[in-house]
Amino acid sequence: MNSDDIIKKIENKLMHIEGGAKVQNIGYVETVGDSIIVASGLSKAVMGEEVVFADGTRGMILNLDEDSVSIVLLGKSAALKEGDTVKTTGNILQINASEDLLGRVVNPIGLPLDGGPTIKKGTPMLLERIAAGVIDRQPVDTALKTGIKVIDAIIPIGRGQRELIIGDRGLGKTAIAIDTIINQEEGNDKAKKSKDAPKRVVCIYVAIGQKNSTVAQVVEKLKETGALDYTIVVAANASDPVSLQYLAPYAGVAVAEYFMEKGEDVLIVYDDLTKHAWAWRQICLVLKRPAGREAYPGDVFYAHSRLLERAVRLSDKLGGGSITALPVIETQADDISAYIPTNVISITDGQIFLKSDLFNSGIRPAVDVGLSVSRVGGAAQTGAMKSVAGGVKLAHAQFRELQVFAQFGSELDAATLSQLERGKRVNEVFKQPQYSPLSEALEILSIWAVTNGFMDDVKVEDVTRFEKEYHEYVQTHDKKLIEALSTGKKVTDEVTTQLKKVTEQFKKSFS
Ligand SMILES: Nc1ncnc2c1ncn2[C@@H]1O[C@H](COP(=O)(O)OP(=O)(O)OP(=O)(O)O)[C@@H](O)[C@H]1O
Ligand SMILES: [Mg+2]
Repeated sequence: MNSDDIIKKIENKLMHIEGGAKVQNIGYVETVGDSIIVASGLSKAVMGEEVVFADGTRGMILNLDEDSVSIVLLGKSAALKEGDTVKTTGNILQINASEDLLGRVVNPIGLPLDGGPTIKKGTPMLLERIAAGVIDRQPVDTALKTGIKVIDAIIPIGRGQRELIIGDRGLGKTAIAIDTIINQEEGNDKAKKSKDAPKRVVCIYVAIGQKNSTVAQVVEKLKETGALDYTIVVAANASDPVSLQYLAPYAGVAVAEYFMEKGEDVLIVYDDLTKHAWAWRQICLVLKRPAGREAYPGDVFYAHSRLLERAVRLSDKLGGGSITALPVIETQADDISAYIPTNVISITDGQIFLKSDLFNSGIRPAVDVGLSVSRVGGAAQTGAMKSVAGGVKLAHAQFRELQVFAQFGSELDAATLSQLERGKRVNEVFKQPQYSPLSEALEILSIWAVTNGFMDDVKVEDVTRFEKEYHEYVQTHDKKLIEALSTGKKVTDEVTTQLKKVTEQFKKSFS
């Protein structure tokens, strides 16, 4: 029995025999607590069902006790009091999904937050649904390009993968997610779309428990770059009821499933799941559920695992759509072995670990290449990227090892020294400003040039300028080469020869 059958069964149960109308079980408010209402008389209520109070406030059932139920409010209500009536609706919580949502900012129950018109009725999607099973899936084999050199080369992300972005406060976690969204323009912009470009990616940014102003900044940036056209923002901010913060990621993935079922590729960012765990802890403490480690409820792992399991690459039979998930986790003092971080690390297919010492020493994005992994790896890279990524990975790994030696100030032989110098330049190339994701062709140019020694004689502090001018030079002088590098196909000997020629020409002009 698949999830839809189960839901149908529940709905049938809810249907009253009389005229087939849904049961309108009416109950009374017993106590009004901190965003939790206890009501009696709702004998036919089911877990997760939506209820409506007399003043129109919506709620969701979270505890079923012998003669009462606990309801979390899905909005603010100052007027609710003891004795008020409450009705069941017969609906498990849903969100309306349609193309109209693109470019909009909504809350987890689909109400607009951007001052725009109400969202037209679309397809109701269940917030809680069982993830696709093994047979319904296929392996991840298509790249989801972030446009960030260090990630695309060393920690590649594939469509259908779950990759965690983890690090302390203010190290650029959101920046990586937003740059990835901005970088999906290639597939979405019909005018710019080349014939080899992969299919479009619909993006969903779920903001959980953040400040209103932070979310507004993100939305503004997406608007400015044109990325909002293919993005949906689902936000439950710090000032919103904690129930909405808890529901936000499920609402986001429900919308993602709507697009995925149409065969589309979706990218969803959960920013961040630390605050989501806090929200769930808060609700459970008020519901008086037993508290476990660090006062989190026993099912906090399940809260995240059932969410992230919904990231999937569907089989061709089911349309071949995908959901790629980028959950974000905030750590304290670089400690990835705390409770929630280890939970989410174990659920995802790899992590991008940002470190404060790298960030402070000017390496931005502050990705710790040694501790970051992508368990999908090369399968998620295009042939073109694969042909240059191996070399840079090796150069960087050697550099990290040698750096430790170099610290002791011991005498180094010439070969070691040159490896160190190369590594320094690789590090420089991996630096990348915010909001400037690169096309794959330009990424390959940089990586190829540095690993093949074309930057060895450039001063470390000049590498950034070298790279910028190099990109401009090739873009104006050899469009054919850029085209060849944009196909995603393996870099042939012919292309390599041309690369060498153009790079040497450029170096003559570089001072
Ligand atoms: N690649 C980059 N180059 C330069 N500055 C960057 C880069 N990435 C991020 N920053 C800067 O670092 C700061 C923190 O970035 P961001 O808000 O993305 O971090 P965060 O980890 O999401 O923070 P929080 O924990 O508060 O959510 C911002 O001021 C941002 O402009
Ligand atoms: Mg952030």
